[in-house]
Amino acid sequence: MTEPIVSFRNVSYSYPSGEGLALDSIDLDVQPGEYVAILGLNGAGKTTLGLCVNGVVPTMLGGELQGTVTVAGLDVADYPVREMAKVVGMVFDNPEFQMSQMSVAEEIALGLENSGVPHDEMVRIIPETLAIVGLAGFEERSPLGLSGGQQQRLAIAAVLAMRPQILIMDEPTSNLDPLGKQEVFDMAAKLNRDEGMTVIVIEHEVEVMARYADRVVVLDGGRIVMNGTPAEIFSRVDELAALKLRVPEAAAVAAILRARGMWEGPIPTRTEPAVEAVDRLLEAHRG
Ligand SMILES: Nc1ncnc2c1ncn2[C@@H]1O[C@H](COP(=O)(O)OP(=O)(O)OP(=O)(O)O)[C@@H](O)[C@H]1O
Ligand SMILES: [Mg+2]
Repeated sequence: MTEPIVSFRNVSYSYPSGEGLALDSIDLDVQPGEYVAILGLNGAGKTTLGLCVNGVVPTMLGGELQGTVTVAGLDVADYPVREMAKVVGMVFDNPEFQMSQMSVAEEIALGLENSGVPHDEMVRIIPETLAIVGLAGFEERSPLGLSGGQQQRLAIAAVLAMRPQILIMDEPTSNLDPLGKQEVFDMAAKLNRDEGMTVIVIEHEVEVMARYADRVVVLDGGRIVMNGTPAEIFSRVDELAALKLRVPEAAAVAAILRARGMWEGPIPTRTEPAVEAVDRLLEAHRG
């Protein structure tokens, strides 16, 4: 096995003003090139986990961090967030809120300037990065005049311009329409597949995660309570229900059929194979 690119070793964290632990005894490894989905209820610690990877916790927010978070070989507690931004890019749920500049090009230039990238390099990086997110030629447009999906792809471009090895997306599509959601997830999947980028997504839409993720990590009360492939995790329908988490509809249907003795074999997590299997089941029933 290769060295993990992200590794949490017995990490517990409390916010300066927080009561109790936001993260509790976290052990987690992420391999380079992995696509990991983080699931959990509100307050489970998902965002805090992401903020540990980009170093905002603890270097900017303070509080008390125990254990170690190592990212690309660096102990995050020892590096300023500006340095970590060259390794980890993080985008949030509200793209409009992340826009502060008059033009798309300036939006991307901002982070590059802050990390001291020379002007002639910026001139090369900006169009290159816009092309990656499907916004080629958008340099002079106003960020606020873009659609939600385009804005979120611009927010992603702004972090990609720093050439990070890891992209973290915190509920990146919760303010987007179905087309915008599709655009963002397709792009992240492409970066993961074609560029080998490590992707960590915090996401409530289990169907989407069943489709894209290599691994699903479930948080509850600051602890990791499940960690496995989407097929492993989403087949544990009753446990997820006890945690008040949704499962993909395909898995829910198969679980009902299994309870009635009508389903043998693995629980499907994706819609298409489940529809085919139910179809065969009905066919056999008829015959
Ligand atoms: N800045 C803060 N100061 C104090 N406590 C905080 C702060 N941010 C989060 N917390 C607390 O830490 C715990 C974990 O919060 P976190 O935001 O990581 O959860 P989450 O899983 O991202 O939730 P959501 O789905 O609502 O985004 C919660 O108990 C929350 O109240
Ligand atoms: Mg959150």
